[in-house]
Amino acid sequence: MRIPIERHSSTAVYLQIRDRIRHLIETGALRSGDKLPSIRTLSASTRVNKLTVIEAYNVLAAEGLVEARQGSGYFVCSAKSDRTESKHQLSKHQFAPPQDTIVLEQPPLPPLIEEFQGGSSFNLYMKSVQARQQPGTIDLSSGFSLASGLDDLPRVARRAVKQISGSLFNYDLPQGQLILRQQIARLLVQQHGLNVTADNLIITNGSKQGILLAVHHYVKPGDWVLVESPTWYGMLSLLYNMGARVIGIPMTPEGINLELLEKNLYTYRPKLIFTVSTLHNPTGLTTSLDHRRQLLALAEKYDCIVLEDNAYEGLNFEPVPVPIKALDTSDRVIYAGTFSKTIMPGIRVGYLVVTGEDYQPLVERKLHYDIHVSTVSQAIVSEYLASGHYRHHLAHLQAVHLQSRNAMLDAMQRHYPPATYWTIPKGGTFLWVQMPAHLPLAAICQKALARGVFVAEGTPFFPGGQQSYPALRLNFTLLPEQIEQGIAILGEILQDYV
Ligand SMILES: Cc1ncc(COP(=O)(O)O)c(C=O)c1O
Repeated sequence: MRIPIERHSSTAVYLQIRDRIRHLIETGALRSGDKLPSIRTLSASTRVNKLTVIEAYNVLAAEGLVEARQGSGYFVCSAKSDRTESKHQLSKHQFAPPQDTIVLEQPPLPPLIEEFQGGSSFNLYMKSVQARQQPGTIDLSSGFSLASGLDDLPRVARRAVKQISGSLFNYDLPQGQLILRQQIARLLVQQHGLNVTADNLIITNGSKQGILLAVHHYVKPGDWVLVESPTWYGMLSLLYNMGARVIGIPMTPEGINLELLEKNLYTYRPKLIFTVSTLHNPTGLTTSLDHRRQLLALAEKYDCIVLEDNAYEGLNFEPVPVPIKALDTSDRVIYAGTFSKTIMPGIRVGYLVVTGEDYQPLVERKLHYDIHVSTVSQAIVSEYLASGHYRHHLAHLQAVHLQSRNAMLDAMQRHYPPATYWTIPKGGTFLWVQMPAHLPLAAICQKALARGVFVAEGTPFFPGGQQSYPALRLNFTLLPEQIEQGIAILGEILQDYV
């Protein structure tokens, strides 16, 4: 197959590939069941990066034009001819969303992208906790910061508990202690450009609980929710378990594919878009300010709530744009933050930022769930913030994480086979490594574990349960010597297969 690439065109290369293949399908040159060239072949013949080809194929798959078959590659969809004739087909030419109309009824269309069929994050979570408890294991899978620079925390904690000892025998406010809410609000205003006060904050048991509160508030079983694909598997599991119907919109190097986002907003009228716009889990990508504006404009146009999960907030060692919440003027964005990544996960203190009339019902919901977050945990975080330790600790984490990220980039460069590609995050704790498609990643991860290196496969991060997606999520927040050892072992195993 010949695909001419116009390198100076304003159309991105992956879209040029998509358009050409789409054209071949629409004109009948490619027919139902035809196999597309392998990623490797097309990448070589077009002289573009494999990630670009994967991106093009992902977009075609998302449009329902091609499908991935496990271990065999990509094929033109068998149902294609039906779909082209269907009046509901959303090809580029027919897609014309109404400008100002809001269609409230859900059109009876088949999903453009497979629904998430299930699976729970329980096993993955347990594996990760157990791996951490095995002495000597190099855990490249979990999303924690380096556990260093916290020497002052025990002293701060003792002081905090002493100060609140009188109030420990009472229940507290469901929305959390006022002082802590004021401190977090100040931080969000000064450092992240949000326009909020203590009265917009609900302290939650980690951001996971804030996300759960929001999802239960806005989404009923059977409602559609749009997520980035890949995304944090904890969210997929949560949505699946509460009976939401999930559509994954492919991620591009710039963030969620906005064209597909609009198509799906138009078709499904989802209740919620879930996004990790900054230091995305699992890819480590951060979207641009312009991308954030466009995403918010689409949410406005289709009257959809945006749940912005900023779990890695503050862990950037390069500048990042303000969160989408900072651009929100119509109380459409719910923002979740946490101290799990910047202090420690065990403290279980996160927060939800809600502006507008939904604040009070969400506070009431928090009361129904578990009354309030531990007064002790809240007091420790509050004292840690008040004493200035938090600011110093963030600066410390940013510096050591930068070193760790660079150590991992350097180690991968030396140890990995040539056909692997990775993201270069501006902070956070992960990067995403795209592997040659034929590698048996499950077996590779198993071998790595047998040699004491725990790695997360890419597959569970995809809604729709893509089988054996050829990627790994790697946590770089380890000591440089652990990174070197872990990546060298992984590299050796990979080289055996390449
Ligand atoms: C993207 C994302 N959101 C939320 C969470 C949950 O964090 P918390 O410990 O604050 O509940 C995690 C944890 O790994 C995460 O990666």
